[in-house]
Amino acid sequence: MKKIVVLVSGGGTNLQALIDAQGKGELTGGSITCVVSSNPNAYALKRAEQNGIETEVIRRRDFDSQDQYDEALTALLKGKDADLIVLAGFMTILGKKVISAFENRIINIHPALIPSFCGEGYYGLRVHEEALKKGVKVTGATAHFVNEVCDGGPIILQKAVEVRFGDTPEVLQKRVMEQAEWKILPKAVALFCEDKIKVHGNCTEILE
Ligand code: GAR
Repeated sequence: MKKIVVLVSGGGTNLQALIDAQGKGELTGGSITCVVSSNPNAYALKRAEQNGIETEVIRRRDFDSQDQYDEALTALLKGKDADLIVLAGFMTILGKKVISAFENRIINIHPALIPSFCGEGYYGLRVHEEALKKGVKVTGATAHFVNEVCDGGPIILQKAVEVRFGDTPEVLQKRVMEQAEWKILPKAVALFCEDKIKVHGNCTEILE
């Protein structure tokens, strides 16, 4: 059984989707063993507690440098014996140390169809604001492995979502979450836990 550690910063609806998937028996091969938050007030922590999942808080601002933070986060994740790390709305940048310690074992959910509306500065509502400004008719979500390029690692799953005229960033965010994020993130995690994702350079092969 693979140990899944979920990193969060906010509301935790993607964490909830993972917890629900686990409850429905859809995460065979894995179990959510710990939720780590960058924010002590994140509602995601409550969701974890309500479901009897161990929690930890680690804040970037408690460390003098990115290196020290990275070192501490790597030690925390290794101490939890994590097989898979899931970034579910985790808003703190990961440094090289964590990324190389868990190569192709960190999955992120991004609220757009990468390579659109991604990279540094594109997170949360900002992503949807930019999609609406550009006037795209289709957006969506991407589950991908994390490498040293921001939002640049191998793509695992993507799902498209329609943009409607008059959408606000909040309305579009909700539609992208409901129709794409909450579906493809648990699916990507399940595939990983069943050893069904094979990485070839920057591409993935789904063994189904
Ligand atoms: C989600 O939309 C997630 O895709 C996004 O933040 C939101 C977190 O919501 N992540 C990023 O923008 C990362 N670049 P949640 O806390 O309710 O899951």
